[in-house]
Amino acid sequence: MLDIYSIKTFEVPTKLISGVDSIKKLDEILRNLEIKKPLIVTDKGIKEAGLLEKLEIILKNKGYEYSVYDQVIVNPDVATVDKGLEFFNSCNCDGLIALGGGSSIDTAKGIGVIDKHGGSILEYEFGKKPLTERITPLVAIPTTAGTGSEGTMWAVITDHERKVKYNVGGPLIAPQIALVDPKLHISLPAHITAGTGMDALCHAIECYTSHYAQPLTDSVALLAIEYCAKYLRRAVANGEDIEARYYMALAATLAGFSYGSESAGAVHAMTQTLGGIKPDVPHGAAVGSLLAPVMLYNWMGEPEKFKRIAIAMGKNVRGLTTREAALTAVDAVFDLAEDINIPSLQELGVKEEDIEKLAIAAENDPQTIGNPRDINREGYEEIYRYTYQLAE
Ligand SMILES: [Fe+2]
Repeated sequence: MLDIYSIKTFEVPTKLISGVDSIKKLDEILRNLEIKKPLIVTDKGIKEAGLLEKLEIILKNKGYEYSVYDQVIVNPDVATVDKGLEFFNSCNCDGLIALGGGSSIDTAKGIGVIDKHGGSILEYEFGKKPLTERITPLVAIPTTAGTGSEGTMWAVITDHERKVKYNVGGPLIAPQIALVDPKLHISLPAHITAGTGMDALCHAIECYTSHYAQPLTDSVALLAIEYCAKYLRRAVANGEDIEARYYMALAATLAGFSYGSESAGAVHAMTQTLGGIKPDVPHGAAVGSLLAPVMLYNWMGEPEKFKRIAIAMGKNVRGLTTREAALTAVDAVFDLAEDINIPSLQELGVKEEDIEKLAIAAENDPQTIGNPRDINREGYEEIYRYTYQLAE
């Protein structure tokens, strides 16, 4: 349902520069942003994969003095961000380059927030202390096609004390530049390509069907869905398929833009709270296992839009009722998850006795509000139990 009676805004504060070898534009980008001494925010895996070196060669050749903060962890926490700012200051850096998946980009966003606003990132949870200034200049270079954090106005931070993942955000946190080069995705292992790709698909589907949807976010979301359906299997099957990598990279960024200034829905309410309680569960894989079951629950809230998802995923819906067509979209996502070997909840370490607690946490997540079908703790429990028994 497109709510035509509420006033909506859409803005993209991020400039998107994309294409094969677009990384070569880095020097020009840094000069335009007047960054002379960047801090590269990344993780050890990116270093081991040789991607950091690629960036360093470019910076060294152009005579940049730079520093590297490689302490980013999966599901970055308050300390990761706060220590990152200490390091940023100790190196006298004047700008940020995030190189990695959502964890590195979100950490860099967080560093940019507290560099400009002071204090700890803990204080800037959405709804508490508002952001008043654009963050420190940030070039976000994703090495996965997944979170789309390079195009979103959110950073997801883990607070171990409360066992929650919370959001910091608004237009002021958006990176100044998203530099999307699919060549950097070539070395991604198949299971990470699969999980992160399902995350991108999920952002698009959740934002497209959300109560917050509007024509501009719908249009980028639909194309992202089409790209995921067409290219995710290819990217998983052959990591060096540069065409598949290109379209998946763009799918993730477009899906990031489809958030607009709003949030996702039930899958993200479930997976973000799951990530807070079990920080070792990879976000993409958890999303991949829950997306189709949530769609099965949700389709009745937006049957026409689910039909349109089926079409975007290449399904022939001619002659089908709206119900049948909508359920075709659900089946298409079940098939995709199966083809690319998305693990089950059990394989991800979720125990049956966790379900009640997880359902309560999901109900309290603010992303519940945008979900196309009303959902409460019972609904979440039903979806968790359904998904759990699929693998038994
Ligand atoms: Fe996500």
